Amino acid sequence: MPASERYEFHEYDVVVVGAGGAGLRAAIEASALGARTALVCKSLLGKAHTVMAEGGIAAAMGNVYAEDNWRVHFRDTMRGGKMLNHWRMAQIHAQESPDRVLELEEWGALFDRTKDGRILQRDFGGHKYARLAHVGDRTGLEMIRTLQQHAVHKGIDVFMECTIQTLIKDGDHIAGAFGYWRESGKFILFRAPAVILASGGIGKAYRITSNSWEYTGDGMTMAYRAGADLIDMEMVQFHPTGMVWPPSVRGILVTEGVRGDGGTLRNSDGKRFMFGYVPAFFRAETAETETEADAWYQDKKQNRRTPDLLPRDEVARAINAEVKAGRGSPHGGVFLDIATRRDPEYIRRRLPSMYHQFKELADVDITREPMEVGPTCHYIMGGVRVEADTTQSTVPGLFAAGEVAAGLHGANRLGGNSLSDLLVFGRRAGKYAAEYARSHPGGLSVDEGQIEAAIKAMLVPFEGRGDENPYTLHAALEDGMQALVGIIRTESELIQATDLIASLRDRLGRVSVRGNRQFNPGWHMALEMDTLLTVSEAIARSARERKESRGGHTRDDYPATESAWGKVNVISRLAASGEMTIAQAPLPEPPPELRAILEEKG
Ligand code: FUM
Repeated sequence: MPASERYEFHEYDVVVVGAGGAGLRAAIEASALGARTALVCKSLLGKAHTVMAEGGIAAAMGNVYAEDNWRVHFRDTMRGGKMLNHWRMAQIHAQESPDRVLELEEWGALFDRTKDGRILQRDFGGHKYARLAHVGDRTGLEMIRTLQQHAVHKGIDVFMECTIQTLIKDGDHIAGAFGYWRESGKFILFRAPAVILASGGIGKAYRITSNSWEYTGDGMTMAYRAGADLIDMEMVQFHPTGMVWPPSVRGILVTEGVRGDGGTLRNSDGKRFMFGYVPAFFRAETAETETEADAWYQDKKQNRRTPDLLPRDEVARAINAEVKAGRGSPHGGVFLDIATRRDPEYIRRRLPSMYHQFKELADVDITREPMEVGPTCHYIMGGVRVEADTTQSTVPGLFAAGEVAAGLHGANRLGGNSLSDLLVFGRRAGKYAAEYARSHPGGLSVDEGQIEAAIKAMLVPFEGRGDENPYTLHAALEDGMQALVGIIRTESELIQATDLIASLRDRLGRVSVRGNRQFNPGWHMALEMDTLLTVSEAIARSARERKESRGGHTRDDYPATESAWGKVNVISRLAASGEMTIAQAPLPEPPPELRAILEEKG
């Protein structure tokens, strides 16, 4: 049967892959500019990792501190990212975030309020001023709800439970995307001159993660296979506070908003251990004693900050060190206590989800008892290399926004900068993809040979080439990445990791899936193992290459940050052999006026 009779066909100007914050915002913009837009998501609309950014949207609106402005936000983002960020992305992000928050409010988002009725902003790690516009501890959910309603009212075509597996090209240009309906297993082709990837991250490569089943590195793998560069793949963020007990909920996020609203970290001796871990970079700004930190919580108009709110990489490493030194909590975490400093009414009002999460899942009343928390894989700073202004990748017609894209956050993302990233660069992706589609009307052809090859590759698990099980391989990958490419890394462990990934790749060739394509989770897992192994290889190889410690990448054998490593690892695919290659590229130099901001004290 010719391939064209084996798949459903659709034609659009812009196809958006992924319907979290970035995908929804991109689709809204593209559609508003007149582009025929499809929004395709592998899960149900609204079920996205965006909801795991609970504590707020970072934007220098100056509602709580009039001194705040985009320059300070830009500087915090660059410093938090250990200067590995693309300066232009950090500038655009800091400048445009306030307008994106106000626009969300116009579209119906209900934010918490200051006494005089403005959008309330809370403290988060690494931000000099209270800057996170929020809705209790459900900000991501409110953002998704608002964007979803707006997108639906715009009449955007939504394809739910539809996985895009391969990008189709005409010469060097993107010509469409090909995938399958998860329920029926039927194939589907979208022809379009512009595709926006907004498919999120890679959390399911790790055993302990805040990510749900969807986050298997699909977008990064598709972009890489289509010829795009990936950068910063070694920069994986372990959020310091995930649940650690009971085992069935290990990794579920405990929002940084708990610490932003007064929660403190303690070890098994009851000591506020973060005072012992303030890095030189932040020493001048951080309280040195409990009394100073307490004063900060009471009167935020202080120059010094509490060490509980250092950037995430610093806090995750400190928790890891406390547990290793035998000062952890009974289930291998540390204690997060908000009950001592805040009354029950305040906790229930400000952190309703955390209150219910601990009560229902762990039988802990956080208004009276401390929480047990530990690091959880939450985010990847690396991903598809994009142009700062347009979000276009190195492949013409392929755009990327949100977690799947790289550059803005450098070596470590500040909390709250993800939701603003999704809005700012989601909008830009939609705008530039729509413009690109307008300037490339029709004419792109879809080569049946590429479709034929995609179908053949997707059906391999049904060929019965061996007796490997995709779930067994996934479990081995999660355990291996957790143990060997986690918070602290060494050369020998990274070598073991690359060997493990190669052996799992080999075993994937012998995976057999029973039954047919109709709702077959084993088949889906087999296909997702392919993408997970690709991103895991990129992470492990980039981590091995970077012989220094910086942000989300800590090498026990190379503990210092080296100025010579102020550059990015670039992963690309050799077209002829399909081999993964790695090279280094310099970072663009900020112009003098921005350099001056970065050099300012404070
Ligand atoms: O802790 C949190 O609420 C997560 C926020 C984020 O990742 O930006």
